[in-house]
Amino acid sequence: MVQYQSFPDAAGDSRTSDKLKALRLPAIEGKSFLDIGCNEGYFCGFSHFMGAARSVGIDHSPEFIYRAQTRFPECEFHARTWDHLPEGEFDVILLASALHYADDQPGLIDRLVEKLTPDGVLILELGIVSSPRAEWVKVKRGIDERYFPTMAQLKRTLIDYAWKWMGPSVNQDGDPVPRHVIHVSHRKPIAYLLMQPPAYGKSSVASRLFPPAKVPIVSGDEIIQRIAKRELSAPGKLQDLIEKDYSPFSIDKTIQRVFDKKMGGELVQVWVAEGGDEDFAVDGFVPAKYQAQVEAQLAEAGYMPVTLRWERVAPSLVPLDSLNEQTAEFNRSLSVAGREAGDNADKGARQSSAGYVDEVKIQDGHVVVRGWAIDATGSAPEQLVLGIGADRTFVEVGDPQERKDVQRHLELPHAKLGYVIKLPVPVETDFAGLARQGFSVTLASGRPLRLAQRVIESMQGAAEPDEAGSPSS
Ligand SMILES: C[S@@+](CC[C@H](N)C(=O)[O-])C[C@H]1O[C@@H](n2cnc3c(N)ncnc32)[C@H](O)[C@@H]1O
Repeated sequence: MVQYQSFPDAAGDSRTSDKLKALRLPAIEGKSFLDIGCNEGYFCGFSHFMGAARSVGIDHSPEFIYRAQTRFPECEFHARTWDHLPEGEFDVILLASALHYADDQPGLIDRLVEKLTPDGVLILELGIVSSPRAEWVKVKRGIDERYFPTMAQLKRTLIDYAWKWMGPSVNQDGDPVPRHVIHVSHRKPIAYLLMQPPAYGKSSVASRLFPPAKVPIVSGDEIIQRIAKRELSAPGKLQDLIEKDYSPFSIDKTIQRVFDKKMGGELVQVWVAEGGDEDFAVDGFVPAKYQAQVEAQLAEAGYMPVTLRWERVAPSLVPLDSLNEQTAEFNRSLSVAGREAGDNADKGARQSSAGYVDEVKIQDGHVVVRGWAIDATGSAPEQLVLGIGADRTFVEVGDPQERKDVQRHLELPHAKLGYVIKLPVPVETDFAGLARQGFSVTLASGRPLRLAQRVIESMQGAAEPDEAGSPSS
């Protein structure tokens, strides 16, 4: 009998250890391995050596099976054709240099993929004819004539699977067709995830991509609305949480609460039930810190999660709470400005703000605010009013600091306009919390101090619930 596989004690026609390297087997420790047309058992022996939990080889030649059993008694070998595959599923199935012997080659591939575990891989090592046409080409070899696919044909045959060309395999003397290695696995449905914050354009991105590809879109906002209106059933706790202070204008807050209360998993299950077993897209905000959890849950449910991320093209939005506060402050400033109209117009324009807030931070349980302020008499105020959320607190200013820059700008006779004020805050208050509650500083008269642009930006960044972390406080 011919020697096909090569061992240190028996050189065969095939350079078996080179072929082993070309196959690019995945890590096999603890996994199950099946070799179809295993010949003398080299690859089963290798998988056992690498710690496979089960190594099985089948070959229709009893003589090869006898030799395999002799070489590798710890593996399981069966003298049978591939018409009778062994029991069970396998993590790795190998079909090397044997597909061309099958009468129904696509049928054999289908049956082998069916024997894979959900994450398993079928490793095909086969000759591929070079031709642009999709066809099975009859090739005359030294010993017989067999059919080999072209790459175009293989693409067609593997259309229902996920597969990847891994590279060329080792050729044998007299090979009429170059050999290649292809890894094939179950194609998982894809869950496309668009989880960006509100106003990032998720819906317009989704509507451009998915309807033309006939991929259904699950709208995260719509799901929340339907649950809130009891048009869609959801687990009781999730239902209660969504119904509680639900508003169509702040669905992002509802979603934030759902995830904070550890009910995000239940919400994702509702998406999956809506999306079905095939590819689907989710157009739904998920706070940044929970996005990995959503991806893991979908992978666990058998989907391939594909997350789409992009930068927002427009300037970032002012959080709603801050906008309320800013509007109130602006209105207050309008009425004060009206009372003061008639003074030196030029100077009045420059002095229309009662000062500035240049820095806000949380330090040692205090909110610390620095800036400059000027009252109606042209002096630094003795007190400032610190507004946090709905609370207003009068804070003594103490000795004013020199602000020559302000003096120059306002053409004042003195520079004693700088202030640093501190107010104790509850221990759990951080910068992000402060930013979310809304923050203001005014004179005792109600005239507001303007927040410097960098203070506004850092507060906007901190207040956005989905951004990773708050700026250092
Ligand atoms: C060219 S050899 C390849 C051996 C091995 N897979 C390798 O690559 O080293 C083809 C093997 O397939 C086996 N074979 C051919 N037809 C088969 C069938 N219908 N069922 C099971 N084994 C078969 C042969 O006995 C032979 O061992």
